[in-house]
Amino acid sequence: MLQRPRRNRKSIAIRNLVRETRLHPEQLILPLFLVDGNGIKQAIPSLPGTFRFSLDHLLIEIEESLKLGIQSFILFPVVDEPLKDKLATYAIDPTNFYLKAAEKIKDRFPEVMLCSDVAMDPYSSDGHDGLVRNGEILNDQTLPILGEMAVAQARAGFDWIGPSDMMDGRIKFIREALDFEGFSETGILSYTAKYASAFYGPFRDALDSAPKEGDKKTYQMDPANRREALIEAELDELEGADVLMVKPALHYLDVISDLKEASTLPIAAYHVSGECAMLTAACANDWLDFETAMPEALTSIHRAGADIILTYFAKDYAKLFQEGKL
Ligand code: PBG
Repeated sequence: MLQRPRRNRKSIAIRNLVRETRLHPEQLILPLFLVDGNGIKQAIPSLPGTFRFSLDHLLIEIEESLKLGIQSFILFPVVDEPLKDKLATYAIDPTNFYLKAAEKIKDRFPEVMLCSDVAMDPYSSDGHDGLVRNGEILNDQTLPILGEMAVAQARAGFDWIGPSDMMDGRIKFIREALDFEGFSETGILSYTAKYASAFYGPFRDALDSAPKEGDKKTYQMDPANRREALIEAELDELEGADVLMVKPALHYLDVISDLKEASTLPIAAYHVSGECAMLTAACANDWLDFETAMPEALTSIHRAGADIILTYFAKDYAKLFQEGKL
């Protein structure tokens, strides 16, 4: 045999030399759930290890994450049912606790990258990402609502705006709204290929944001489709997105790989709540070993082509990294 691939696996030093991908904690974004109030740190039963925090506890969580080397966060609001309405008006209310919290976070930790979520669902009495009329999710009528939401978030100090709604034309609409209001430096992390996935369950438990009627299949993508993601990617790029994202991540590695090939923009992947929950559950039963299975999962997402990974395991990964266990 002239070729013996095992020679390159002979020792730790050799394996380290030939390792093709390395995921650094700086490439991770930690999702955080914010509730109004004080002194609240509430467990989410379907997503062990992740909490709903009031701002005081959230600031502590950010401080701890920074010490571990996590410097990027995406913030989601848990909104009380009485504040929800058909037009998601609370999203731009001057008293909105989510916007006020962003200001305080950026004030206290100006160095962090803080990303928002743009979609109507946390504020909508219908639980949909767009405006609902007679059971239909309206596209063009939703855009101005998203535009206003994005401007309010930029004004609050978010570094990146994260449209997760999958309405057509939203990136252009949001980009123009931001520029018109003088926020040309605010970036857009687009949920480019967001699938109508069953793996968002724990997230919807956390936010209590499940659709009241129907599903999200007329706007989120069909999990069976791969090439369609390229249409979305091309449009987002033309419309001015700064980063393209695939969601979920682990079940869509082919789509991540395709987007990486097709675009020169940075590619992000959202390792979603259900994907994290599966692993946590298996590890809690001792069916899998967390310290090896979790980094393998994240490395696979990176290997497929994601430059940036949103994951509920960001702190766990950073801790192992700091301990020299990776
Ligand atoms: C809502 C939104 C969802 C997630 C992020 N933004 C859920 C949905 O579309 O129903 C899911 C994230 C996760 O599961 O971790 N616009």
